Amino acid sequence: MIPAKPAQPSVPAVDFLKVTEQAAIASARWLGRGDNNAADGAAVDAMRLEFGKLPISGTVVIGEGQKDEAPELYVGELLGQGGMPCEIAVDPLEGTDLVARGDSGAISVAVIGAPGGIMSAPDMYMAKLCVGATAKGRVDINAPLADTLEVLARCYQRRIRDLTVVVLDRPRHQEIIEEVRAAGARIRLISDGDITASMSVGVRGTGDHLYVGMGGSTEGVITAAALECLGGEIQGKMWPRTDEERGKLADFGIDDTDRIFTIADMAPSPYYVIATGVTDGNLLRGVRYFADGARTHSIVMDLHGNTVQFIDTIHLFTRTIIREIRL
Ligand code: FBP
Repeated sequence: MIPAKPAQPSVPAVDFLKVTEQAAIASARWLGRGDNNAADGAAVDAMRLEFGKLPISGTVVIGEGQKDEAPELYVGELLGQGGMPCEIAVDPLEGTDLVARGDSGAISVAVIGAPGGIMSAPDMYMAKLCVGATAKGRVDINAPLADTLEVLARCYQRRIRDLTVVVLDRPRHQEIIEEVRAAGARIRLISDGDITASMSVGVRGTGDHLYVGMGGSTEGVITAAALECLGGEIQGKMWPRTDEERGKLADFGIDDTDRIFTIADMAPSPYYVIATGVTDGNLLRGVRYFADGARTHSIVMDLHGNTVQFIDTIHLFTRTIIREIRL
């Protein structure tokens, strides 16, 4: 039997844009101020407020943690004024340390999906391999990285030395870094933000071709939704490190740590993925403030409408002074 296609979402994608725009504007105020909790808190408050204005009956499936861990945007929290039923996965500020340090690559991101359309994942590390549409269906997370890079070189019709692999700069990735270096590809080591990095890999022209390494599993689910909209691919394997984490996995019905999670598992039915740059990155510009206003740069991906929009918004905080609008 062919599974029924979820109904078209009745609330358009752009109606959700303010959710990440306002979170980005609020958190970017904390740039370089050394306080990642304040930056994150500002993003969470602003995002929650905007969700509350929407004509949706949304349930958070990925958020700031479980109910006993987070007062806002917790898993199971209901959002919206009532209306379109949907599931929501958010990272109000991905890259809290990036903002605290004034570093590049932080974004605010939200996924809106059909009921049952987004996997609820236990929070732990996940080993991930992400590619864009050019290499979709051609890679295998279990293959040696040298082989993967040869495949990518063929897909992108270039030599391995002309490929860039993005890796989180962590001691646990030493082996990966050595394998990539031995194969001869370029590496972009990032200090944080693997959703941003994976989305960058999913868009031609960013100069990034492969994301590989262990990052958050909830970030993996958001990445899966984004790469579905961009035509790319993620393969992920849960990476529990303690008995407690293995127990958590079992609670979610996952016993096999060799199981490869794909987009079909993690984001079977996303409607939209929306992200706004908080600090400058390869894909999105960060928030820029001016007197009585701010400018944001966002990507709005609409799987049903088959569109990917880049949206540059000028936000005027007051109408008492009408400022010139710059190109
Ligand atoms: P936060 O935004 O919650 O700070 O997460 C940033 C991040 O770099 C993620 O992008 C990544 O998945 C995870 O942290 C990696 O975890 P760790 O810092 O423990 O290596």
